[in-house]
Amino acid sequence: MTVRITPSILNADFSRLDEEIARVADVSDLIHLDIMDNIFVPNFTFDFDKAAKIIENCPIPVDSHLMVIEPEKAAPRFAEMGSASVTYHFEAAINHRQIIEDVHGLGSRVGIALKPGTALSVLDDYIGLIDMILIMTVEPGFGGQSFMNEMLEKVRQARKRLGVNDRGVWLQVDGGISPSTIEVATEAGADTFVAGSAVYKAEDPAKMVTLLRELATQR
Ligand code: DX5
Ligand code: ZN
Repeated sequence: MTVRITPSILNADFSRLDEEIARVADVSDLIHLDIMDNIFVPNFTFDFDKAAKIIENCPIPVDSHLMVIEPEKAAPRFAEMGSASVTYHFEAAINHRQIIEDVHGLGSRVGIALKPGTALSVLDDYIGLIDMILIMTVEPGFGGQSFMNEMLEKVRQARKRLGVNDRGVWLQVDGGISPSTIEVATEAGADTFVAGSAVYKAEDPAKMVTLLRELATQR
């Protein structure tokens, strides 16, 4: 299975983001951009203008994770800005088919994220239409929280549903991913890993990305 490491810049130094991204770009698959609106989650990251600049300047593809209300409006905008992948929260959306169609129409992959309390079965009608499932392994909103082991069962179920699929649906985990948790997440079936504080608190962020990739690559 192809492994993807997608560092989250949430815990990077926001005053010099281009440099922070450059530190990991060569060894990472995508940069994970956390968008928080202070409504869906109690925190705010970037407005549309700032996000557009980050995406434009990013030397590798961007994986936008929208923790915002009204993804019907926001998701197409992030596709238009050039995100390779746009993930919205199931809990925030009303019209899933519309979002999926709009994002695809703009040429981006589309993912649906599930908070820890949301069952995988909510995706029954949409699993065949999307390109990524994001299983949150912490409550969304903050970096640096502990990985929730009890989410591994949901990852296993998701892998079972997807199989080793040839349609290329990615199975992402986000929250508390580090050298001590990435192996269990891999064994449960995840193939795409967000890591924020593990990468940016490391002395050498690029080395950490490489280590995470090694640990996630099944022997
Ligand atoms: C949390 C964000 C994550 C966050 C992960 O709501 O979606 O992407 O940056 O940070 P760590 O890896 O520190 O848990
Ligand atoms: Zn995220």
